[in-house]
Amino acid sequence: MIKVFADLQALSHAAARLFAEEAARAIETKGRFIVLLAGGETPRRTYEALARDPLRDAVSWERVHFFWGDERHVPADDPASNARMARQALLDHVPVPAAQIHTIPYRSSPRESAVAYEEILRAFFSGGPSRFDLVFLGLGENGHTASLFPGTIAVEERERWVTEVFLPGELMQRITLTLPVINRAGLVVFLVSGTSKSRILRETLEDVSPLHCIPARLVRPADGKLRWLVDRDAARLLQQRA
Ligand code: 6PG
Repeated sequence: MIKVFADLQALSHAAARLFAEEAARAIETKGRFIVLLAGGETPRRTYEALARDPLRDAVSWERVHFFWGDERHVPADDPASNARMARQALLDHVPVPAAQIHTIPYRSSPRESAVAYEEILRAFFSGGPSRFDLVFLGLGENGHTASLFPGTIAVEERERWVTEVFLPGELMQRITLTLPVINRAGLVVFLVSGTSKSRILRETLEDVSPLHCIPARLVRPADGKLRWLVDRDAARLLQQRA
């Protein structure tokens, strides 16, 4: 389901309201809300909207567990850190217990970080299958999502829950959750904004190019829901408009 909003501000407020609704539903039925945050720049304003009234007081933060879909292999205080962005925009402003902020550990290698995070995830889900209530994802101009980049073996990974990503030509290496974990989510929401994303959004949603060329097209929750919250600039090339 695709919803088109006038601009990033409207998109972000809708995403924040959706977070609050899903949190209330999960906490009502399960006593906790398990969410996977996206990195990059697009979600920042969604996180900021959650840190402000009225939504700040609408969420039972003490019942929320935060995880990340991917991270750059950098220290926690590095400006490139996805967790740092989420702390500045949201987590430093709401009363979520520190023990419920499950960041991707920065170890001496991306592989060690990935292995450590997988251990954290498997322990959190008590050795059973992972099941995130809500997954936020972004869309890169080359069709990547999380850090599942076209042509990387991370996209093909079907056993490991977390893997390292070495991008040729990029100094910064990454850690990403894999498709099997993302596709076990109850609800996956893509947040896409800006003219620069209009071509890849059309190709992702309407093209017939081979699936593996655009990793975002491989996000298909097995028994969950998939939603696209996009702004008008990103949607300008779409045939079918919501
Ligand atoms: C990251 C993200 C990545 C991001 C897209 C879109 O760590 O960079 O996980 O997948 O969502 O690259 O980034 P923007 O929102 O900045 O356009």
